[in-house]
Amino acid sequence: MEDSIIKARGVVKIYAGLAGIVLLLMMSLGVLMRLAQGQLIGIGPDIFYQILTAHGIGMVAIASLGGAAVMWHFLGKYVRLHDGMAIANLALFLLGVVFVLGSIFVGGFAAAWTFLYPLPSHSMGMWSHHAAAAYLVGVLLVGVGFLLFYLEAARAIINGYGSFSHALGWRFLRTGNVSDAPPPAVIASSVVTIINIISILIGACILVMMLVNLYVPEFRINPLLAKNLIYLFGHVFINATIYMAVIAVYEILPQYTGRPWKVYKPFVWSWSATCLMVLAVYPHHLLMDFAQPLWAHVLGQIVSYTSSLPVLAVTLTGTLAGIYRSKIKWDLTSSLLVLSIFGWSAGVIPAVIDGTIAVNTVMHNTLWVPGHFHLYLLVGCVSMIFAFLNWVSRSGQPAQFGGFEKNVLWLFIAGSMGFVMMFLASGHASIPRRWAVHFQEWVRYDQVAAVFALIVLISAATIVLRALARLSAAGRR
Ligand code: HEM
Repeated sequence: MEDSIIKARGVVKIYAGLAGIVLLLMMSLGVLMRLAQGQLIGIGPDIFYQILTAHGIGMVAIASLGGAAVMWHFLGKYVRLHDGMAIANLALFLLGVVFVLGSIFVGGFAAAWTFLYPLPSHSMGMWSHHAAAAYLVGVLLVGVGFLLFYLEAARAIINGYGSFSHALGWRFLRTGNVSDAPPPAVIASSVVTIINIISILIGACILVMMLVNLYVPEFRINPLLAKNLIYLFGHVFINATIYMAVIAVYEILPQYTGRPWKVYKPFVWSWSATCLMVLAVYPHHLLMDFAQPLWAHVLGQIVSYTSSLPVLAVTLTGTLAGIYRSKIKWDLTSSLLVLSIFGWSAGVIPAVIDGTIAVNTVMHNTLWVPGHFHLYLLVGCVSMIFAFLNWVSRSGQPAQFGGFEKNVLWLFIAGSMGFVMMFLASGHASIPRRWAVHFQEWVRYDQVAAVFALIVLISAATIVLRALARLSAAGRR
């Protein structure tokens, strides 16, 4: 497996390092929100909703950049990628961030990361049309950057494999010839490239439509259409973060177990099925929109049950089979990778429960939903990104797993699980999501959650800052 250890290019290190730093900053905003809901600090509702907006969009964008670092690094092992596009993505990303932060913290924009139409243009005096426009332009810039990134990935994949059908493994399905089977990293990258090019183009359409509507209100948008487009874009984009980051499991874990990650037919089928289903799963966010056609609700319910399961099943079984009696070498990287598969698997369970219409009508607007996606994203996706950052900072070599690092990892696990469980327990107690001020009987939940959130922040900061210190020391050598 020695060939898996290719030197991380500069742009990959910048992506991974930036992801680590911004994740910490966004976690700090999350801690502030939990402290405020727990009445441990005083933050006005206007500021709370600005923080909520920044945390939501910031986390989605940076998880995507972290996942992109993993994908660029490992896809680059199999096809020739031009770093120029990754650098262009980074430049547009940073420019977009300036617009988004300006709109929120200077302009007071606070319509949440989902910018649901017509809220951005109906601020009741809380922010101007220019502030809303700056937010939409900022998100558009980040989207255009990622579009360049995926177009370059698509070009390189087609160049290297002749077609997407080969890169997705369909030739292997026909011939059964192992030499036709692309590596897991190529299959996953192809799926993400396809779904995210579609999602970003759809996102760009609704962003431009809303920009026009801000200044030409006669240009009206059907709110249900707008919601469908926004959720298709947002849901696919955030789902794709874990589909990129999981490449770290496929590529790095085999170095620790000594067993290569084999591509077999169910693996190919699963990724292809997910490629289609992930585009159709978002209607579970619209189960309470009664104007939505019934067939879309039915689709939302069924696909919610099935969408993430195939890839998760092959990844979970592959991970367990890889580890079983393998003499795996445990260090921070391998432990975080295995933890991430647990987070991903466990995080899907509350989502499937919430995707059931009978449950959805009472649970969807509660903190149950942040409970689901924080489990899936914090313990799943972020653990993969941290594992990758740690692995890159150690030049792809397994390391000693000292007592200090073990304790930090256990703190991260305990903090994350406690923090997420408090969201789920709050949802179970019918505490609504996105409320800046909580009733007195809910405050105890928030306070306990705030303590766990602080533990997550401290342990995550230790992992990230130590990795960054190693990267900068290696850069000076
Ligand atoms: C220390 C870690 C974290 C803390 C303390 C935290 C805290 C919070 C809080 C308090 C909320 C608002 C819940 C509500 O009342 O509705 C929230 C929402 C959210 N968080 Fe986190 N979070 C953390 C990590 C993450 C991570 C790692 C991600 C994704 C990678 C993430 C993505 C989001 C998103 C997308 C929302 C929804 C925003 C909205 O409803 O508009 N968070 N988080």
